[in-house]
Amino acid sequence: MTEFDLAIRGGTVVTAVEQFRADVGIRGGRIEAVGANLRGARTLDAGGLLVLPGGVDSHCHIEQLQPGGGADEESWETGSRSALAGGTTSVVTFSTQFKGRPIGPSLAEYRQRAGQAMVDYAFHQIVTDPTDAVLAELPGIIASGIRSLKVFLTYDPLWLDDRQYLRVLAAARRHGALVTVHCENYEAIGWMTEALLAAGLTAPKYHAWSRPPVLEREATHRAIALAELVDQPIQIFHVSCPEAAEEIARARARGVRVWGETCPQYFVLSAADMDRPGFEGAKFMCSPAPRDAKATAGLWEAIRLGTLDVVSSDHSGWSFDGPRGKRVNGTDANFRDIPNGVPGLGSRLAILWSEGVAAGRISASDFVRLTATQPARLFGLHPKKGSVMPGADADLVLWDPTRRTTITNALMQHTIDYTPYEGLAVTGWPVATVRRGEVVMQDGQVTAQPGGGQYLPVAPYDAIAPRGVFANGFDPSTACS
Ligand code: URP
Ligand code: ZN
Ligand code: ZN
Repeated sequence: MTEFDLAIRGGTVVTAVEQFRADVGIRGGRIEAVGANLRGARTLDAGGLLVLPGGVDSHCHIEQLQPGGGADEESWETGSRSALAGGTTSVVTFSTQFKGRPIGPSLAEYRQRAGQAMVDYAFHQIVTDPTDAVLAELPGIIASGIRSLKVFLTYDPLWLDDRQYLRVLAAARRHGALVTVHCENYEAIGWMTEALLAAGLTAPKYHAWSRPPVLEREATHRAIALAELVDQPIQIFHVSCPEAAEEIARARARGVRVWGETCPQYFVLSAADMDRPGFEGAKFMCSPAPRDAKATAGLWEAIRLGTLDVVSSDHSGWSFDGPRGKRVNGTDANFRDIPNGVPGLGSRLAILWSEGVAAGRISASDFVRLTATQPARLFGLHPKKGSVMPGADADLVLWDPTRRTTITNALMQHTIDYTPYEGLAVTGWPVATVRRGEVVMQDGQVTAQPGGGQYLPVAPYDAIAPRGVFANGFDPSTACS
């Protein structure tokens, strides 16, 4: 009988479509067999556990560079540790272009810093300033394996106006990349913010008032309409409300290649959390803002309908007290001056399992599809990542579906000094994480070493293929930059 390097025995394998009892045989870092009675030089007993593909978190901010130098607090080492502790083995993170500067030098620094990764990783390239010179850099960047461009339709100093956004869409279409979009209306948020501050409404809870769902819906509609004009596939990031999901559903119904992502914060946090006493509300501030129970119910429905098909963390590397953290401008700072974003790399899978599968809203296969298979497909990492099948990288999580845990910041193992989910009781927890055949986490002990992660260059893949449908049959992307 063949002896594998590692055999995971006695578990229930879950894929995006089914679950079945099987052993998994691993050799040379890959899954070689899924079947009965497999033996290995090393064995992991998965009796009573589920064997899931390692999580693929296709939206998380790790060691993101700051315009004045340095990076946000979550390093590759600490971010990877949190990911592995939570069952995630691959991430798609960000390289940011600073306005007025070329992409090349900062991308080189991102690559160099990612040398410390303990998870496998790919990049989205954020484009903030699509000048002719920057657009001329894109073919080389895309050809090097970064096949996803991120744009912001809000945030100073990152946002793009419509014409700039069109230029990025056209460049992506010409050179073969997906575009991911942060959809909120910049001008309207600025105007609302001025009105709120002028009225003395400055506390963290007014962050949500400054950017209500209608502004997310408008920007989502516009992002899709312009992508439709250029015939460029896009993914809408961090959908927080059914109003935005409806725009995606309507576009998909007419054949537009648009996908929607949401995040655990929109299932378990709400605008009311930003109204906690003192400055505590700042811990829950992210954009788009968490909404209310009705919105959450609408998001679950959008998941059920397949309108939202990826759940990522949007992990942000800001502490509460850290040097660039939530309190950087003091505890009486108005909401405009409080850094946005919440950490979530380590909690993503447990929250989605608990709120989704354990609560009876989705199946275990839905969970695998939302957290591993579909993000891997959408970002060109499948079938290497995101599935339990022969030939795939042996990235696996042994998952206890019934274990009850109360989330604490210590369990997250990140460098951030808080989790917005402190005290949240969850059902379902990772028992062991395997990365390319190596057991890198067992019972919360992460044993991976910095530098053990691998870069995942992305080759052209299905999701980025346009439809070839234009108004009047004219393809503007070939004629305009
Ligand atoms: O508030 C958030 N989401 N911060 C992270 C950056 C982004 O918008 O993705
Ligand atoms: Zn965003
Ligand atoms: Zn983000």
